Amino acid sequence: MKNRKEYLDNHKDRFINELFELLKIPSVSADSAFYQDVLDTAALIKTSLEKIGCDNVEICDTPGYPVVYAEKLINPDLPTILVYGHYDVQPADPIHLWNSPPFDPVIKKTEAHPEGAIFARGACDDKGQMFMHVKAVEYLIANNELPCNVKFMIEGEEEIGSPSLEWFVKNHKEKLRNDIILISDTGMISNTQPSITTGLRGLSYMEVTVTGPNRDLHSGLYGGAVANPINILSQMIAKLHDENNSITIPGFYKNAEILSTEERAEMAKAPFSLEEYKAALDLNDVHGELGYTTNERNSIRPTLDVNGIWGGYAGEGAKTVIPSKAHAKISMRLVPGQDHVEISELFSNYFKSLAPASVKVEVSSHHGGHPYVTPIDSIGYRAAKMAYETTFENSPIPQRSGGSIPIVALFENELNSKSILMGFGLDSDAIHSPNEHFGVFNYFKGIETIPLFYKHFTELSKK
Ligand code: BES
Ligand code: MN
Ligand code: MN
Repeated sequence: MKNRKEYLDNHKDRFINELFELLKIPSVSADSAFYQDVLDTAALIKTSLEKIGCDNVEICDTPGYPVVYAEKLINPDLPTILVYGHYDVQPADPIHLWNSPPFDPVIKKTEAHPEGAIFARGACDDKGQMFMHVKAVEYLIANNELPCNVKFMIEGEEEIGSPSLEWFVKNHKEKLRNDIILISDTGMISNTQPSITTGLRGLSYMEVTVTGPNRDLHSGLYGGAVANPINILSQMIAKLHDENNSITIPGFYKNAEILSTEERAEMAKAPFSLEEYKAALDLNDVHGELGYTTNERNSIRPTLDVNGIWGGYAGEGAKTVIPSKAHAKISMRLVPGQDHVEISELFSNYFKSLAPASVKVEVSSHHGGHPYVTPIDSIGYRAAKMAYETTFENSPIPQRSGGSIPIVALFENELNSKSILMGFGLDSDAIHSPNEHFGVFNYFKGIETIPLFYKHFTELSKK
C-alpha cells in the first residue's frame, strides 16, 4: 500500500469538501422538524458510496429512518468486513453557545488540534468518522488494492437509541453476513498515543414524574401543608447515592463484573494526568465512587446520572407557586453482567419505594442497551494494532470507554460477529456539546490507517 500517503495528499482538499457537504445537512434524528434533512443525508451517503465504486447501493426502509447499505464483494473465499456508522447527529442546542453555526462547518485551530479541527455538529460523532471509511475504501478501490470484501451499513437513528436497527439486522442476516464489524464512533487517548476501544458501557434510560396536588397552588396559601413535588423529587434523587457515591438501588451491583487487581493495574498504565483533567473542565476536584480512580469511574464502573430536571416556574422574575408536577430524566451506564431490562425494573421499584404517601410517582423507560467487551487477542484486534503501529509509529493501548453503542452487543448476538472499535476522536472534541469538532489530523489519520486494517485482517485471516 505504498500509494497511501500520495493518494491522500493529492485528494486532501476534496476529502475535506465532501465531508463539509455532509456536515451542512442538519440530520437531527431526535427532532421531527429535521425529517427531510435526515433523509437527504442518507441520499448523499448513497451517492458517495456509488461514486467510489460500491455495488448494490441501497437506501433500505425500516420502521424509522433508513439504513444506507452498500457492498463491494470481490471474492467469496476472502473475508468480509462490515462497516457500521451513523449519519444522524445530536440536536445542536443550545445554539447560542456555538462560536460558529453548527451546520456551517469551518476549520479552526485548537490547543489539542494545532493543525486545525472541523467545527460542526456531527464532525466527530459520527459523520467525520464514518466518512473516513468511505474515503479509505475509495482509496482501496481506486488503487486496485481492496484485499477483501466490504459491506457498509450506515444508520440514521443511533442518537435516539437505534429503535429500528434490531428489526433491520434480524431481517437482513444473510445480507449482513461478515467476518468482522468495523466501527469508528469512539475516541482515542491522544494524537500521539492511539488506543483501541475494547469496551462500551450499557445504558438504561428512565423518566420519572412526581405529582403532588392536582393543580399548581399559591405557595403562601398552601405552602407547608402539601407536598411540593420538586422538593420531594430532589430528596428522592439524593437518596439514589450514598455517602461513598455508591448507587443505593438494591441489587444494582449484584451482577456487575469486577475487574481483577491485575486488570486494574494494567488499566492504570495508560497515560493520564488528573491535574490536566481537572484544569480542562475547570474543576477544583473530581467526584465519584469511593475506591476507584477517575478512569475506572468512567469506564469499568456503573453510574447513575440525572440528565434533566424540570417543573415549576423557571421563567423571568419570580412566581410564588407550588407546582403540581416535577420531572427528571435519569440514566444509568452499565457494565458487563448488568442487564438493562433488569436494571430498569430495579430502578423503577426502588424509586417508587422512596416516595412518601403525599405524592404519586410514575416511572417509564426510554431506550436501553447492553454493554460490550472485546478480547485483545483476536485477529481483528491484532490487525488494528498493526495498522496503528504503522501510521502512528506507536503501539495502541486497549481502553474501555464509558460511552455506549448499544447495537454492538446486538451485532454479536444476531450476526455472531465481533466489532473492532477504531475510534479517532479525542475526549476534548466536545461531542454532543456546543462547538463539536474533529481534528483534520484525525480525519486524515483515519483514512490512512483503515486501509492497513483491511490488509492485515485479510492476511491474518488466511493463516
Ligand atoms: N458515538 C457515541 C458513543 C461513544 C462516544 C462511545 C465516545 C465511546 C466514546 C454514540 O453516538 C452515542 O452518543 N451514544 C449514546 C447512546 C445512545 C443510545 C443514544 C451515549 O453513549 O450516550
Ligand atoms: Mn456516535
Ligand atoms: Mn452520539
